[in-house]
Amino acid sequence: MDVFEAIKGRRSIRSFAPEPIPDADLEKILEAGIAAPSAGNCQPWEFVIVKDPENKQKLVQAARGQSFLAEAAVVVVICADVNRTAGRYGDRGRNLYCIQDTAAVAQNIHLAAYALGYGTCWVGAFDEKAVAAAIKAPDGVRPLIMIPIGKPREKPKPTSRAPLKERTHLESF
Ligand SMILES: Cc1cc2nc3c(=O)[nH]c(=O)nc-3n(C[C@H](O)[C@H](O)[C@H](O)COP(=O)(O)O)c2cc1C
Repeated sequence: MDVFEAIKGRRSIRSFAPEPIPDADLEKILEAGIAAPSAGNCQPWEFVIVKDPENKQKLVQAARGQSFLAEAAVVVVICADVNRTAGRYGDRGRNLYCIQDTAAVAQNIHLAAYALGYGTCWVGAFDEKAVAAAIKAPDGVRPLIMIPIGKPREKPKPTSRAPLKERTHLESF
């Protein structure tokens, strides 16, 4: 699939069919994820793959009852090992770079999954401590993004965007 087709065609999917994802597809998606850039190539990301229904329910509870998380074949919890970046870049690494790094990974995952025929949704509304407890995250490892991945059971209409020219400034604001 052409990269522009993937970028334009991807939508947030919040309803999934109960079909498993072959490990080879999941691996391909995650490999696309880690092809993302990261500050100083520190690669602060850690992934927790959640398939077990009970564990998925813990994530649903931590995410204000967003039940579609449990419908998806897997939920990928993208974490940042903050010290990996902070060790090199201090506060900027801790507070900014590791967040940006995981966001870049997440977008690659969305696009790769879409290109393989899967639906995803970026889930950021969750209680970080509750997710950390559910996945037994070690100290210094922050769960930052959750991505359910599965066969889509809906085809949402494209979402709107403010016109580019309203948000683009030549040389300065
Ligand atoms: C940082 C971030 C957090 C988000 N958190 C949630 C969330 O918790 N639950 C949800 O259903 N969608 C969430 N979304 C998805 C957005 O609602 C969605 O991307 C937006 O409405 C545009 O729709 P589209 O993805 O179909 O283009 C989040 C997106 C981002 C980038």
